[in-house]
Amino acid sequence: MTIASTSSVPYLADTAPGRGPRRPPRSWLHSDAPTLSLDGAWLFRLSPVAPADEDLADDGFDDSDWDTIPVPSHWVLEGDGAYGRPIYTNVQFPFPIDPPHVPDENPTGDYRRRFTLPADWSAAERILLRFDGVESLYKVWLNGIEIGIATGSRLATEFDVTDAVRPGENVVAVRVHQWSPASYLEDQDQWWLPGIFRSVTLVARPAGGIDDVWLRAGYRDGAGTLDAELTADPSAFPITLSVPELGVERTWQTPDEVGPIAVDTVEPWSAERPLLYEATVSSAAETITLRVGFRTVEIRGDRFLVNGNRVVFHGMNRHEAHPDRGRVFDEEHARADLARMKQFNVNAIRTSHYPPHPRLLDLADELGFWVILECDLETHGFEKGGWRGNPSDDPAWRDAYLDRIRRTVERDKNHPSIVMWSLGNESGTGANLAAMSAWVHARDTGRPVHYEGDYTGEYTDVYSRMYPTVIETAEIGTDGSRAPLLNCTPAQGARQRTKPFILCEYAHAMGNGPGALDQYEQLVHEHPRLHGGFVWEWRDHGIRTTTPEGAEFFAYGGDFGEVVHDGNFVMDGMVLSNDVPTPGLHEYKAVVQPIRFVFDVDAVALTNLRHSADASDLRFRWRVEHDGAVVRTGELDVPELEAGATVLVPLPEVPVAHDAETWLTVDAELRDDVAWAPAGHIVASAQVDRSARIPVPAAPTVPLRSGDAAAPASGTLTLGPASFENGRLVSLGGRPVSGPRLELWRAPTDNDEGAAYSDPTGSDGSVVGVSSASLWREQGLDRLTRRLVSSSGDATSLRTVERVSAANALASVSVESTWTLNDGELELRVEILPSAGWNTVWPRIGVRFDLPDDATAVDGASWFGLGPLESYPDSIHAAAVGRYESTVDDLSADYARPQETGHRSAVRRLTLRAGEADVLALTFLPDTRGRRPGFTLSRHTPQQLAAAGHPFELPASDTTYLFVDAAQHGLGSRACGPDVWPEYALRPEARTLRIRFA
Ligand code: GAL
Repeated sequence: MTIASTSSVPYLADTAPGRGPRRPPRSWLHSDAPTLSLDGAWLFRLSPVAPADEDLADDGFDDSDWDTIPVPSHWVLEGDGAYGRPIYTNVQFPFPIDPPHVPDENPTGDYRRRFTLPADWSAAERILLRFDGVESLYKVWLNGIEIGIATGSRLATEFDVTDAVRPGENVVAVRVHQWSPASYLEDQDQWWLPGIFRSVTLVARPAGGIDDVWLRAGYRDGAGTLDAELTADPSAFPITLSVPELGVERTWQTPDEVGPIAVDTVEPWSAERPLLYEATVSSAAETITLRVGFRTVEIRGDRFLVNGNRVVFHGMNRHEAHPDRGRVFDEEHARADLARMKQFNVNAIRTSHYPPHPRLLDLADELGFWVILECDLETHGFEKGGWRGNPSDDPAWRDAYLDRIRRTVERDKNHPSIVMWSLGNESGTGANLAAMSAWVHARDTGRPVHYEGDYTGEYTDVYSRMYPTVIETAEIGTDGSRAPLLNCTPAQGARQRTKPFILCEYAHAMGNGPGALDQYEQLVHEHPRLHGGFVWEWRDHGIRTTTPEGAEFFAYGGDFGEVVHDGNFVMDGMVLSNDVPTPGLHEYKAVVQPIRFVFDVDAVALTNLRHSADASDLRFRWRVEHDGAVVRTGELDVPELEAGATVLVPLPEVPVAHDAETWLTVDAELRDDVAWAPAGHIVASAQVDRSARIPVPAAPTVPLRSGDAAAPASGTLTLGPASFENGRLVSLGGRPVSGPRLELWRAPTDNDEGAAYSDPTGSDGSVVGVSSASLWREQGLDRLTRRLVSSSGDATSLRTVERVSAANALASVSVESTWTLNDGELELRVEILPSAGWNTVWPRIGVRFDLPDDATAVDGASWFGLGPLESYPDSIHAAAVGRYESTVDDLSADYARPQETGHRSAVRRLTLRAGEADVLALTFLPDTRGRRPGFTLSRHTPQQLAAAGHPFELPASDTTYLFVDAAQHGLGSRACGPDVWPEYALRPEARTLRIRFA
């Protein structure tokens, strides 16, 4: 093999989408024509550069010393690093921007395998070699004969190999280059993962077969239409379409006869009731099986409708990501993921930013999702040069663009779930995109075209944006608003306001967050032009990796020694790499739940917010709890509840406790098992407070002694369960405990570290400011020091005053802690008073208690308050008042990069556990404004969390830390979106904590 530079490989500077006998793109069909899977072990050799000679092509080439590699797979995920490592970049190209050239250092995988042509294929008219996905450019030979070249990593190619295939044994050779001109069109925010990563199949096409079928099934007012388009040789006729369940059986004798069929009565398909009818299309030689869903997509004015009803997308951007397999499809994993989406009230998927494995769409049809199917296209890296040289507007790339959209639409056109085509993502704008759109409009009149980058709406049918603020989103939805729209003149803006609007991306789910989901959701109800959106994104793309010491973790950018990378920006999912839903996903589920509950004194108004399904699949169970203990349960008698309707349902009589809080909870749960969840799964839930007024015990008064410092608390002091040495707490309930110690710092979330979108109330998200986290560090919130100003104590009380401040800081906080023993009850009151001169938001206002491991570690907690999961001021809808318990470890979410986690809000009582024993019981009293603190229990300090890039970097712990927070800053989604909304932003302020200990 000769290693040579790329310049001697001319096709590596060719913008053509492919060469050779590539068959016209067609649907990915389930057919009874014979196929031979070529998946499995292939022989493999990797070169660090693109070799100049093509020795692998030779029929008799000696490949006996090659390795074997599975197909499908990505070579960088095989062989434990033997074949290179994955690279993660968001916008950046991991090679010089020098289109259409790519560097000579171009990892190239050569693949070979032998197969035997099935003996009974001799009757086949043509034989095709089909590749469902290869990244990024590949050249194919069969039996030494050059077949062709293809690109379009996430698109299928079928080569006609009839003339090259031979009876008996055959040898197929494939050369795959990691980098190619096509890489410039595939700059999606994800791992670069080369290889043959989807199936390879040999396909026999029978004489008289049906090459392609498109069944367009429309629906209107109870009736359907079936419009067939067939691609078949006239000799294949007669062809019969049959849908037994509908009594449809139509035989066309000639191509000319093929035409629409009216179906009198049919059930429509929707994401809520995904009703599919099995259909067959058959000639004498071939039968194709399809599942038909009847639905009509249309835009009327600024409304996007399916079957006449407005669609609200509660969607997720979905990448193909698997912690071990990368983008290699795993049907069981994908099905479980989609079921999980349904369980969390997700009803839509944008296939960001390329067509998924074709089976995914079968699953979407079956489980019910509105799908925006996106083409494999992104040229984001050209933004760096002001989009200079962007392929989207360069005629040299026009064929490649048109080729991509054709292959996208043709492959997946039969799926009822697909309600919109998307041209791609973040590719600037230009004539090639407009040409793609024109092609789609001509080919498929039944689905609109989406592309976010068409800001002024020159060639797309819906208005789409990513990450606008709440204010801007509202302005897009407001009739008559003259607020300017991004990159639009007033006239262009006015035009955009005549179209349906979607948030193709919003609520960047990186790390702890996003906040403000409820604010976006609220807008959908206020402005019918707004059709919801797609959270960025469904799952983290972490790659399961093991440290040399054997600790498993999920790798992100930089973990494989990449030259350029974008760190953990690839960990921005609602589901962690190990399939665990984040608290953010629970929040999402609660915010978008399809039933709205509005409680009155003795009735609840239930509104069905669904697209078209009634609520007969739901049962409404209620329960009354006294301080979290269930005292009565029952079921509401809910009459028929059509989509869009509201019914008033009487509530049961609620027994109100006099010494406990009384809460009524109603859960709407599935009556029966469905494909994605068992009966009893809770779809929607709401709570209402029915408590009698419970008086808050007054704070014990401690006489003010003038000049506290004059009577310093020295020596040992015991107040009930607490012991103090020289004015400082040393034990509680017999266990070593220190504190309270003011804590204003939290380990910055990914959103706290975000620097864009500094003004959440503005309408220009692009304003870049300074991240909250850097302001916090600048002010030293992570390194506060203390000075005891005064202390005084007697037999029943102890008071200390501390001044807390950071090195080189003028601003300070005064912390006055007063312990009082009253009738045997110990109360701590902490007054936190900021000085003047604090001028940013604070992460938290709280105190920390250290509970060093004694004979046992504090390893669990139970509480009455909001739970069960963590909550923050702008992400609190999933939390309900109740009694909960958890281990310390389970209180934290395993974000890929350690950060703030675990805050439980509005807590009334907390019991800490060590093993089986309750070691400390705390009661939190509300402040004079009724606000209750939250708690966090962690094996690490925020300083330790903030210093770790991955969970395995956290130091071994010998202490449990309890934080009692009067307040926490909100979350926002500033990692790539708006900062925390002012109402949930924590400004320095005076707060009081009152804690009783038992
Ligand atoms: C968008 C982009 C996504 C992703 C996201 C940030 O601009 O379309 O692919 O990069 O930002 O995570």
